[in-house]
Amino acid sequence: MPTKVMRSGLPAFGVMAALVLAAHGVSVRAEPGPVAYLDPGAAVEDRVADLLGRMSLDDKIGQMAQPERRYITLEEVTRYRIGSVLSGGGSAPTPNTPEQWADMYDGFQRAALAAPLRVPLMYGVDAVHGHNTVVGATIFPHNIGLGATRSPALVREIGAATAREMAATGMDWNFAPCVCVARDDRWGRTYESFGEVPELPSAMTSIIDGLQGEDLGGSASVLATAKHFVGDGGTEGGADRGDARIPERELREVHLPPFRAAVERGVGSVMVSYSSWNGLKMHGNRYLITDVLKGELGFTGFVVSDYDGINEIDGRPGFTKEEVVAAVNAGIDMVMVPTEWRRFIDHLRDAVKDGSVPMSRIDDANRRILTKKFELGLFERPLADRRHLGTVGGDAHRELARRAVARSQVLLKNDGVLPLDADDKIFVAGGAAHDVGVQSGGWTITWQGRPGPITPGTTILEGIRGAAGSVDYDAEGKGIDDSYDAAVAVVGEKPYAEHHGDLTGDMGLDAGDLKTIERLRAAGVPVIVVLVSGRPLDVAAELPGWDALLAAWLPGTEGAGVADVLFGDVEPTGRLPVTWMRDADQQPINRGDGKTPLFPFGYGLGYD
Ligand code: GLC
Repeated sequence: MPTKVMRSGLPAFGVMAALVLAAHGVSVRAEPGPVAYLDPGAAVEDRVADLLGRMSLDDKIGQMAQPERRYITLEEVTRYRIGSVLSGGGSAPTPNTPEQWADMYDGFQRAALAAPLRVPLMYGVDAVHGHNTVVGATIFPHNIGLGATRSPALVREIGAATAREMAATGMDWNFAPCVCVARDDRWGRTYESFGEVPELPSAMTSIIDGLQGEDLGGSASVLATAKHFVGDGGTEGGADRGDARIPERELREVHLPPFRAAVERGVGSVMVSYSSWNGLKMHGNRYLITDVLKGELGFTGFVVSDYDGINEIDGRPGFTKEEVVAAVNAGIDMVMVPTEWRRFIDHLRDAVKDGSVPMSRIDDANRRILTKKFELGLFERPLADRRHLGTVGGDAHRELARRAVARSQVLLKNDGVLPLDADDKIFVAGGAAHDVGVQSGGWTITWQGRPGPITPGTTILEGIRGAAGSVDYDAEGKGIDDSYDAAVAVVGEKPYAEHHGDLTGDMGLDAGDLKTIERLRAAGVPVIVVLVSGRPLDVAAELPGWDALLAAWLPGTEGAGVADVLFGDVEPTGRLPVTWMRDADQQPINRGDGKTPLFPFGYGLGYD
C-alpha cells in the first residue's frame, strides 16, 4: 500500500488517530486544524471533495462493491475498504433477534472503520413491508394493500415506523419502496406494486419521507431506494425479469412518473431492474440510467444494481469484465455482487487501468455514495441506535399496522350478511384463516415467506375470536351445520416472491379452498369469502354462490384489522388499486383499456 500523505493536518481526533493512520501506511504531516472530511461542521460537498482527494483507486472501488454478509469476513471488509454490505432476502444473524442484528451491524461497521480512512459502510436490507426479515418486527400490509388505502399520509407513517425498527438494528439503507406499476397480474411481484396506474405509486412515494425523515440523518432516518428502474411491471406476460416491449411514450407515461416523484422527494438511491426494455437489459442501459434518470430527472443520489443484476446483461451465467464495464459506464454507481465481489473489484480495477472505465466515472460514483453517507450522519453516528429497540414489534407500531390492514380491505360483494355481529355464531374455515406466514406473504422472515407461526402476530381467526363470542374453526370446514349465523372462508395464495410467483395459466383458487367453500355452502349458511392474495384471482364463476367477498390482500402480522372490518368496527373504505379480471384470459387488464372486468379499478363497497 503506497504511503499516502494526508494533505492537511492532524485529524480531528488528534495524535492517537495519526498513530493509527500511520500504522496503516498513511503518514500524517503534523499540521494544525481538523481533517475536513471528518469535520461535521464542514459542508458535505467539501467533506466529499476532501475525502475523495485522499482516496486511492482501491479505496474508491471498494465503495462501489456490495457483497452479501454471508460471503465476506470482517477482516476482508477492512482490507478491501468495502463501502456496503447487504442482507439478501431472509439472510439473518443467529439468533434472529433485534439485538443480534444490531450486534452484527456494529461488527461490520467497526470493520469498515478500521480501514485507514475510516469510511463507514452502509448496510442494505429489504424492509419492504416493515423490517420483515427480523423475527418479532411489525409486518405491515404489502404495497398492493397500501395502494387500496389511497392514503399517502398513512403510508408515510408506515415508512417512519419501519425506519425506527431498522435504526434499532443498525440497518441504515432500505431497498424500498418498489414503485413499480404492475400492468399484468400474472407477475409474481404484483403485490409489491401500489397499483396499476402511475399516480398511485407516485402518491405513495410518501413512504420515502417516512423512511428518510424530513432530512436525511435525523433520528431513525434510513436511506430509501426507489426500485426497480424502469418498467419492471410492464413486461410481456408479466414475466419477472422479462422484456417490456413498449414504446418510449408508454414507458415515460406509465412507468417513469413514480421515479420522478421519488426523485422530487429526495430519494437517496435507485435500484436498477433485472428486466429489459425492447430487448436491452436495464443494467446496461446508459440512456435511461444516465441520460434520463440522472440527467433529465436530476437524480443526485446513487444507483445500485440488483442482486447479481450485472450477470444478466449478456444473457449468460456469471459476469465478465465487459459486463462490469457496461454496467458502470451505464451509470450504475454501486454493484450488488453478493459472492463474486473480489472478481468484480479486480475487473473494475483493470477496466480503470486500461481506460475502459474513466476515472471520472469512478469519482462520480464515489461522490454520489459518499454524499449519502455524510448526509446520513454515518461518520458521526456509525453504530446502531439501540434507543429504538423497544419499538421493534411494539404496541404502537402494531396498532398502526392494524389500522393499515383495516383501511386496505376492499369489500367487493355484500348481500347483506356484513357487517357481522358480536353475538353471531360464526364458523371460520380456510387455509389462510389461522396462519401468520400465509397472511404475511413473501419477503417475510425468509425471501419467499412460508406458512406457519413464523413470527409473532395475530391471525385473522384470532382477530375474529377477539370480536365475537361464539367462533368455531376447522381449516377444511368440517363440522359446519345450519346452526351457525355465518361462515367465513379465509382462502387464497401461499407465500411467494419474485419469479416464483409468476403465473402462466389458471389464476383461480386452488381445489382445496374451493372444496372448503362448497362444504360451507352445503350447510345452507351465508358464506363470506375473505381472499388473502397478492393480486386479483379468477373468482367470477364462483362469486354468485358467495354472500360476500372481501379482498384482504397480504395484511401482515396484524390480522385483527380484517376482523375490524368484518364486524363493522371499521367501515370498509378500500378501493381496488388494480382492475379485477373477469377471467385470466383478459390479462393484462387495466383501467381504460376497453375490456370489461369483473370489478373496475377503484371499485369498493361500504356498509351504508
Ligand atoms: C432481489 C430483488 C430486489 C431486492 C434485492 C436484494 O432479487 O429483485 O428487489 O432488493 O434482490 O435482496
